[in-house]
Amino acid sequence: MEAGKGTEDVFNVHGLHLYINDRVILKDITFKVPNNSVFGIMGPSGSGKSTLLKVLNRLIEIYDGEIKVEGKVLYFGKDVFQMEASKLRKEVGMVFQIPNPFHHLSIYDNIAYPLKSHGIKDKREIMRIVEESLRKVRLWDEVHDRLHAPASHLSGGQQQRLTIARALALRPKVLLMDEPTSMIDVVSAQAIEQLITELKKEMTIVLVSHNPQQVKRVADYVAFLYNGKLVEWGPTEEIFDSPRNELTQKYVVGLID
Ligand SMILES: Nc1ncnc2c1ncn2[C@@H]1O[C@H](COP(=O)(O)OP(=O)(O)O)[C@@H](O)[C@H]1O
Ligand SMILES: [Mg+2]
Repeated sequence: MEAGKGTEDVFNVHGLHLYINDRVILKDITFKVPNNSVFGIMGPSGSGKSTLLKVLNRLIEIYDGEIKVEGKVLYFGKDVFQMEASKLRKEVGMVFQIPNPFHHLSIYDNIAYPLKSHGIKDKREIMRIVEESLRKVRLWDEVHDRLHAPASHLSGGQQQRLTIARALALRPKVLLMDEPTSMIDVVSAQAIEQLITELKKEMTIVLVSHNPQQVKRVADYVAFLYNGKLVEWGPTEEIFDSPRNELTQKYVVGLID
C-alpha cells in the first residue's frame, strides 16, 4: 500500500521505553494511530506527553541529551530510527506550545523560506502556497495587506496560526501539536480547534493537551499518560464514557490535574 493512503496505521508504537541520560521517562508504551484521525494524548504535567510526541519525529534526538530507546516505533510500517531524519520530519511536522515563528522574518518569508529550502523556487508558486496556507489557518484576511511586516508584529494567537501555516505549506502527512492553544487567546484557540477537525480529511493529527475537554471535543482516539506510562487508549467516547482504569476515571472528571 502506498504510504499515506488507505487504512494502514500511521504510527505503531509497541513496548516503547525511553531513557534520557539513563533515567526512564516513558515506560512500556503501546498504541496505534490510525490514518486520517485526530489522536489525542492527554495527561497531567510531567507525565511524558511532550517526550512521546518528540519521539514520533525524532526531535527528541536534537534537544534532550543522551537518549536510549527500547521497543519499536513504526511510521507506515518503517522503523523511525532507521529512516532519514530530515525526510521523516518533512512528512511529520510539528507545532509547539509557545508560538515560534521566525520573529525577524516577514509573515511571507516565514512560509516562503522553508519552501525555498525544500527546493521550491518559482515565485508565483510560492505566493500561491503562502496564500493557501494562510487561508487554511484563517489568517489571510488579517494579514494579506501586510505580508512583509515582521512576524513579531503579530499577536500570540496570530503567531501560532502562522506556525501552523508554515507547517502546512510543506504538505505534511502528519502534524504533531504540543498543547498548541494553551498559551493563546480564546478566539485563536477556537479557530485552531476547528482547523484540526477539518485537517484530518487530508492528514493525521497527534494532539497533546492537558485539557481533557479539548481532547473530548476534537479527538477521535485518545491515550491517557500518567507518570510515563500509558494507562489506556482507545476511541475517545469509550475513554470518556466508560474508562476501564480508575486513574482514567478520575482524570476525565477532573479529579487529577
Ligand atoms: N531533556 C530532558 N532531560 C531530563 N529529563 C527530562 C527531559 N525532558 C523531559 N524530562 C522529564 O521527563 C518527564 C516528562 O516530561 P514531559 O514529556 O515534558 O512531560 P509533559 O509534556 O507531559 O508535561 C518529566 O519528569 C521531565 O522532567
Ligand atoms: Mg509538555
